[in-house]
Amino acid sequence: MSAAPRGDSARERAPNSGCVLVLAGLDPSGGAGLLADAEALRAFGLRPLCVATALTVQTTRHALRFQPVAPLLVQDSARALLEEEDVRAIKIGMVGAGPMARAIVDLLRDFPALPLVVDPVLAASSGAPLFKGPGGAGAYLELMRGAVVTPNLGEAEALSGMADPEAAARALQKLGARAVLVKGGHLEGDAIDLLFDGTRIERLVGARIAARKRGTGCRLASALAAGLASGLTLLVAAQEAKLYVRGYLQQ
Ligand SMILES: Nc1ncnc2c1ncn2[C@@H]1O[C@H](COP(=O)(O)OP(=O)(O)OP(=O)(O)O)[C@@H](O)[C@H]1O
Ligand SMILES: [Mg+2]
Repeated sequence: MSAAPRGDSARERAPNSGCVLVLAGLDPSGGAGLLADAEALRAFGLRPLCVATALTVQTTRHALRFQPVAPLLVQDSARALLEEEDVRAIKIGMVGAGPMARAIVDLLRDFPALPLVVDPVLAASSGAPLFKGPGGAGAYLELMRGAVVTPNLGEAEALSGMADPEAAARALQKLGARAVLVKGGHLEGDAIDLLFDGTRIERLVGARIAARKRGTGCRLASALAAGLASGLTLLVAAQEAKLYVRGYLQQ
């Protein structure tokens, strides 16, 4: 199945009052992380609620270092928002360290009904680590239970031990993910993403765009969370998210 390029329908959607809660790193340059997440969510008419799990020292070109925020502060902040706001989905990106992942897993136990998108972040595009110490893959395996997980090719292999994207998708779903979207942004040729919901494998095909931009993964996962928050089916939400990222790459 292929996601044919279309107009900017997502961006023209009228705002509604629903929120998506994002727990992710703050990249002050805005290329990726919370600022990119917020941009994507607003484009889909959702209000972003953003809790920083880590502060990163980053420019548009370099990821230099990062400092995780105190896990209990993140947990309290997210819980307060979840209890008061009209949260319709949760997106998790960079968690930065094991204790943060555990604090978020504890929090999520109290909100099992909300659609959850987990975008694993182990390293920056430059290769600089964005998780302190070993155990990054294990931390995301815990976080992804019941979630739609969106690893890129390298992350899918790190989490599942499988180099083949379809085998990795099947393995991660078996390990507890609700569904798996293995992103093909780093393939040669067309950008083909694989979506496995436990039953069917769908191929989301997009012609490669000759642009190098950071934050495609963050934007895709937030756009997907926006679609789920709006009640779209997983497949349609994934197709719309991919189209949104195409638009971002073409800007
Ligand atoms: N050059 C491209 N042309 C078309 N689609 C692309 C391109 N690069 C990435 N994509 C799409 O963007 C989405 C994000 O995939 P990607 O593999 O870049 O994620 P990622 O590595 O997690 O990104 P990030 O570096 O932001 O973490 C996918 O839908 C992928 O197919
Ligand atoms: Mg990524």
